[in-house]
Amino acid sequence: MDVGTKSGGYALSAENVNLYYGGFQALINIQFHVYRNSITSLIGPSGCGKSTLLRCFNRMNELISGVRIEGKIRINETSIDEIDVIDLRRRVGMVFQRPNPFPFTVYENMVYGLEVHGIKKQRHHDTVERCLKAVGLWDDLKDKFKQPALSLSDEMKQRLCVARVLTIEPEIILLDEPCSALDPIATLRIEELMAELRKEYTILIVTHNMQQAARVSDYAGFMLLGDLVEFGKTDQIFTSPRDERTEQYITGRFG
Ligand SMILES: Nc1ncnc2c1ncn2[C@@H]1O[C@H](COP(=O)(O)OP(=O)(O)OP(=O)(O)O)[C@@H](O)[C@H]1O
Ligand SMILES: [Mg+2]
Repeated sequence: MDVGTKSGGYALSAENVNLYYGGFQALINIQFHVYRNSITSLIGPSGCGKSTLLRCFNRMNELISGVRIEGKIRINETSIDEIDVIDLRRRVGMVFQRPNPFPFTVYENMVYGLEVHGIKKQRHHDTVERCLKAVGLWDDLKDKFKQPALSLSDEMKQRLCVARVLTIEPEIILLDEPCSALDPIATLRIEELMAELRKEYTILIVTHNMQQAARVSDYAGFMLLGDLVEFGKTDQIFTSPRDERTEQYITGRFG
């Protein structure tokens, strides 16, 4: 399976990326590509730099004081330094570990990004419908627009967060452990959603859950102490890892 190459090129790439939190180097010479319309997962033990790497792609690390970044990061072959940061964060949406809808109604959550980006009100309803349908929430919520988003189940909240990202038509979706607050059934349903979204978007997901990485992703990268030890097709990473440290990790010998 050579996913993504058919639609041509890379959605994301990192070239020689080093990142320092003050004097501490959290990412060491990271180099990899993410193919369009693929799901790529980043795995590795706690503290190895997965979230830090994810945040490089929408320049979220720059919100943290004392961070220094070297190297080149591109989205769709353009260096992110050449993209206005607001535009970049529209093109590269992010969903976090804890479902974090705003403390507003379902509808207000869904139109928030549209308002921020100045999208005309006449288009709001259609967009809300399209995006709630895309995450399988339309039937549940179409008569509950005024319900507080915080009253939904955790799974619905997380779906709503994905739907909220979709309203602003991103090209890439970054997911940082999106299922870690969910039960196994809800987790499987979110995984099905990812498989569906992959048809239109490129997905980069951080997960602690190796089974999840094996189930959902086309490509996988194993990180250790700031280093991307190994990157390849998911099957290869999980069945015939080239690096001994990858093998030790996936067979549960540490982490
Ligand atoms: N804001 C920060 N300031 C200083 N050090 C940080 C900061 N954020 C993360 N780090 C350090 O950078 C390293 C990588 O952290 P990061 O959160 O990216 O790891 P992770 O792989 O996402 O871990 P986890 O699986 O626990 O989420 C860790 O050593 C962490 O302590
Ligand atoms: Mg993390």
